[in-house]
Amino acid sequence: MRVLITGGAGFIGAHLANRMALRGVGVRVLDDLSSGNPANLAAGVNFNRGDVRDVPKLWALLQGVDVVFHLAALVSVPASVLYPREYNDVNVGGTVALLEACRDVGVRRVVLASSATVYGDQARQPVTEEMAPNPAVPYAVSKLAAERYLFTIGRLSNFETVALRIFNAYGPGQPLPPTHAPVVPLFMQQIIGRGSVIVFGGGNQTRDYVYIDDVVDALISASTAGAVNQETINVGSGQETSMRQLIEQIAVTSHAHASVIENTEASGGIQHLVADLTKARQLLKYKPRTLLSDGLRKLYELDERFGARSSLGKVSTH
Ligand SMILES: NC(=O)c1ccc[n+]([C@@H]2O[C@H](COP(=O)([O-])OP(=O)(O)OC[C@H]3O[C@@H](n4cnc5c(N)ncnc54)[C@H](O)[C@@H]3O)[C@@H](O)[C@H]2O)c1
Repeated sequence: MRVLITGGAGFIGAHLANRMALRGVGVRVLDDLSSGNPANLAAGVNFNRGDVRDVPKLWALLQGVDVVFHLAALVSVPASVLYPREYNDVNVGGTVALLEACRDVGVRRVVLASSATVYGDQARQPVTEEMAPNPAVPYAVSKLAAERYLFTIGRLSNFETVALRIFNAYGPGQPLPPTHAPVVPLFMQQIIGRGSVIVFGGGNQTRDYVYIDDVVDALISASTAGAVNQETINVGSGQETSMRQLIEQIAVTSHAHASVIENTEASGGIQHLVADLTKARQLLKYKPRTLLSDGLRKLYELDERFGARSSLGKVSTH
């Protein structure tokens, strides 16, 4: 089997690429390196620098490819509020360009990394795939539009499509950009560095933190499972965790004290977001293997920025 991973030098993409290459799958990566880093990729992975909107480049890279994992995207919620046109160009335009190229060359299946943010605020938790999406920020709108294009062009052009709505992924190698740092590595860095952690809205918001290896399991299953064509599937841990619980757990894991500052002025965004995994269990045989406490311990032990010794080298995929 040969696969193409767009955005494959990024956090999730590199873990996926390395795991598949280890299993003997031929892996091509296309990434413009706007945030990814090819140093994260294992030796067997074929890396190509380029933009996912470059259709002639896609025609070349898609030759002989069975499955495409489409992960290339801009991923900052606050930046999407400032620059919605850019988010639309890359996340929607990039998806449409890729789907056109897939139609032209002919692939068996496209797996899209969509996002739980498409749900926005919902009256009930955990959220199921049947609930009406309620995107509240341009990033979420762009992911929902990407899903719709995926299913529409896949149906019209006769290739299989599946969209995974990924919840809050975390694990070794996750970038920490200063403008939109994801909470898990940010809090770990701040707690280890004896800094203060700022929480919004009382720290009572809840999220579903899913360890990277479980996300990779789901992506790989989505590429091989039967009966997933045109399906949207949640990928999370199914575990609801408040900000305060997350902070306590990180403090325990990193043997440090957490000093918490409350910002009561600003809202923490969506109040609750937790995955119902019934569909993932049925269609993907998905079973998240990593409890939050174990995932945080792995992050602490494997990531050089935290507790890991530099001899551990490349981002772990296990
Ligand atoms: N990390 C999460 O918690 C999470 C949750 C839900 C969905 N997702 C989705 O998963 C995918 C991967 O996210 P991630 O966390 O690994 O982010 P990431 O930023 O680490 O990875 C995205 C990759 O896409 C590349 N890229 C951006 N624009 C590109 C372009 N125009 N052409 C080619 N490559 C481009 C970047 O260089 C980067 O390597 C994204 O589609 C994201 O929306 C992630």
